[in-house]
Parts: sequence; structure tokens; C-alpha cells
Amino acid sequence: MRRGRSQELLTSECTGARSQNGLFWIGGYCLLPLLCVVISLLLLSGCSSVQRNPPIEVWPDMKRQEKFKPQTEIDRSIFNDGRSSRRPPEGVVARGHMTEDTPYYTGMEGALYVGKNPVAMTPELIKMGQAKFNTYCSPCHDRAGTGQGIVPTRTPSWLPANLMEDRIVQTADGDIFNVITNGRRTMPAYRFQIAVEDRWAIVAYLRVLQRAGHGTVSDVPAEQKADLK
Ligand code: HEC
Repeated sequence: MRRGRSQELLTSECTGARSQNGLFWIGGYCLLPLLCVVISLLLLSGCSSVQRNPPIEVWPDMKRQEKFKPQTEIDRSIFNDGRSSRRPPEGVVARGHMTEDTPYYTGMEGALYVGKNPVAMTPELIKMGQAKFNTYCSPCHDRAGTGQGIVPTRTPSWLPANLMEDRIVQTADGDIFNVITNGRRTMPAYRFQIAVEDRWAIVAYLRVLQRAGHGTVSDVPAEQKADLK
């Protein structure tokens, strides 16, 4: 008879409740839900842009503490040069900024552009280069590198170089790295958008594009030559 009993409970809650009386009951209605709404409205009204200034600090935690602001003069009994900040020790390099004057970072060997990419050619490098080239270079130079990307179609007066040209095929790898790093004439610099390793990956991929763009019949494998038209 469990079902009967629970039904009995339900009906007494729905109909019999009207007769309840006590603190939160008026006229047979429970005031508790209404009370909850009113209290939350009161509390939430504190979440407006109106602020007591300064706000009440129940627990100040560590909001106020002794400290020196940078670039201010401090008591010379603490540091005898009176500077609030210490100077880094001689020769210190910030993390990730160890950019030595090596061909890897400059694309130069002495006064000359490095002829060959200092990063070893691997399928991963070329894949990365493809992704970066398609992202950063193709808007102007198009995905095949012929200089007919979407930007020049909208701005016909701005002519990106055709990267398949012999002149650029013969350009040293370090020179192309330099073009990406610093820009050249009307080509903007991309050193802030493209990390050094990705610039070399792009150089590697550009060589692949050029090789593909300058393919001849002798590049076709013997067994596929018959299919050529
Ligand atoms: C916003 C458009 C634009 C983008 C993006 C762009 N280029 Fe260029 N690029 C140009 C223009 C324009 C020139 C022609 C510069 C000139 O001769 O005035 C050029 C020229 C070049 C040249 C030839 C430079 C020379 O020696 O004459 C190379 C190499 C080159 N770009 C490589 C790249 C690579 C690699 C990327 C991707 C990282 C890239 N460009 C992205 C516009 C762009």
C-alpha cells in the first residue's frame, strides 16, 4: 500500500496545506518563496555600479601591504643607491630573449646572408612552413607564391612579388628570412607575427614551392611519364 500512502501525502500537501499557520504562513499561503525573492533582490541590489568609497573591507587580506613602487626613490638605508628596483646583474638575459647574433636569429653570417637554411629540412619543418605560409604569406603572394593573393586583387596598385621568379629562386635563404623579418620596400615586416623558427620553416616551404613550380619532365618518375599529355 505504499502508493496509497504517498498519494495521501501529496493531497494533504496540496489541499490540506491551506490550513497551515505559523510564522511564514498567511491566509493559508506559504510566504517563504516570496521572502526569498525579496531578500535576494535586496542583496543583489548591492551589485550595482554604485559603490561606497572606499568599500567596506571585512577582510582586508593582503590588499594593503608595505611595498615600493617601481622607479621611485627609497630610503638609502635599505639600498644605498636609493633605487626601489634592483638592476639585473651584468649579462643577464630575459627568458626567451637569448637572441644571439647567430645566423639562426639574423639570417646573416658576418656581412653576408646565409646561403642555406640553418634549420635541417625535415617533413615536419616543411609542414609547419606550409601552414605558416598559407596563413601569413598567401593573402598577398597566394598559396602557390605567384603574387596573386586576395590583397592585390582588391588593391591592384600593390604588387607582391612573384616568388617563383628566378631572381627569388636564386636569393639566399638568409635574404628571404630577412625579408620576412624586416620587410622590404612595400612588403611589410612580419617579425612580430612570425617566430624565428616559423620564419625558417616558411623559407623551407618556399623552396619546396619553387622546386614544384619549376618542375620539368625529368622530375616525373619514369613509370608515370607515359601518363603525361
Ligand atoms: C601584405 C602583403 C604581403 C604579405 C602578407 C607578404 N608579402 Fe611578401 N611582398 C609583398 C610585396 C608588396 C612585395 C614586393 C615588394 C617590393 O618589391 O616593393 C613582396 C615581396 C616579397 C619578396 C621579394 C623581396 C625582394 O627581394 O624583392 C619575398 C621573398 C617575399 N615577399 C616573401 C614573403 C613571405 C615569405 C611572406 C610570408 C611570411 C610574405 N612575403 C608576406 C607583400 C606581402
